[in-house]
Amino acid sequence: MSDQIYFFDTTLRDGEQCPGASMNLREKLEVARQMERLGMDVIEAGFPCISDGDFEAVHTIAREIKKCRIAGLARCVKADIEAAAKALEPAGERARIHIFLATSKLHMQFKLKKAESEILRMAAEGVSYAKQFVQDVEFSPEDASRTDLDFLTKVVETVIDAGATTVNIPDTVGYTTPDEFYRIIRHLKENVPNIGKAVISVHCHNDLGLAVANSLAAVRAGARQVEGTINGIGERAGNVALEEVIMALRTRAGQFGDVTDNINTKEIVRTSRIVARMSGMQVQRSKAIVGENAFAHSSGIHQHGILNCRETYEVMDPQAVGWGATELPLTKHSGRAAVKSRLEQLGHVLTEEEVNTVFERFKKVGDSKKFVYDDDLSAIVDDSLHASTG
Ligand code: KIV
Ligand code: ZN
Repeated sequence: MSDQIYFFDTTLRDGEQCPGASMNLREKLEVARQMERLGMDVIEAGFPCISDGDFEAVHTIAREIKKCRIAGLARCVKADIEAAAKALEPAGERARIHIFLATSKLHMQFKLKKAESEILRMAAEGVSYAKQFVQDVEFSPEDASRTDLDFLTKVVETVIDAGATTVNIPDTVGYTTPDEFYRIIRHLKENVPNIGKAVISVHCHNDLGLAVANSLAAVRAGARQVEGTINGIGERAGNVALEEVIMALRTRAGQFGDVTDNINTKEIVRTSRIVARMSGMQVQRSKAIVGENAFAHSSGIHQHGILNCRETYEVMDPQAVGWGATELPLTKHSGRAAVKSRLEQLGHVLTEEEVNTVFERFKKVGDSKKFVYDDDLSAIVDDSLHASTG
């Protein structure tokens, strides 16, 4: 039987922590509705104790969204856990309280000013307390990838004993590398005696541009939930871009064992557009999967290849992620085959010699501007072929 990979979207919580990306209630609800259409397993709707607005957003999303689990974030303190539980009430059985507590020496010493024994006690108490409100409790040892591995192992065992159903291993500052992260996850799988009672999750930040590679390494090591955001928005260099992880798992399935997921990939581009519009964070053109140029080919050799067989220069079908057909924008790099094909699409029936004439003029126009648009091409045809006969 296939192993299920669960996707946990934190666009509305960690994504929103990206400076300038705050969303109001209406915007958050629109994103959440689209996440539901996308088939997201868990939506982290906010951090209820941080503001009335966040509480309201989590509460409303918990009431309106019916097909996803809804998570609310909480520090490992009673007041936060109570606020999350209250905000999540309308979600009933689908409510998840997500508790985090830092476990690296750096954070314990300089931020929390607590010893390992206190952290273990707080983690166990926090999870047990959350279990009084909901069945589904996720625990994140913040800065896990920089945490002493023996201590991390103890923390994970302790929170599972206390009832955590998902243990999330965050690479909070985007510091780990794929090999190292693989070893951390394998170590936990092999050394935490009760690990089978919880889903191992990962949460990678992109400070070194390794978030996708690290998440995929973790899946190979046995992680079964991946957390991230759409378009990769988030603190600093962002969170892992979930659309990239989803499509890497789908496209290179053989590399990851027999895994499956619930995502309706045809909704990916629409989700990206909605997140960009609601958060105000624009997507760069060459961004994988969802950037404007992700399936656009402009060089002559590539366009010729694509016209003969899409797979020559594409590793996935653009329509599978919600784009229209492959785009062959015409630029000075384009070749005769692409120009001829576009002329045919535009209804110009030309002899080979006429195509050559148009192509010569096309190259000159291409040298003077970034794109040669359909109107330009028709003007070239009129000018170079029909002007003298008219
Ligand atoms: O990056 C991080 O460590 C987090 C936790 C709250 C999961 O966002
Ligand atoms: Zn994070």
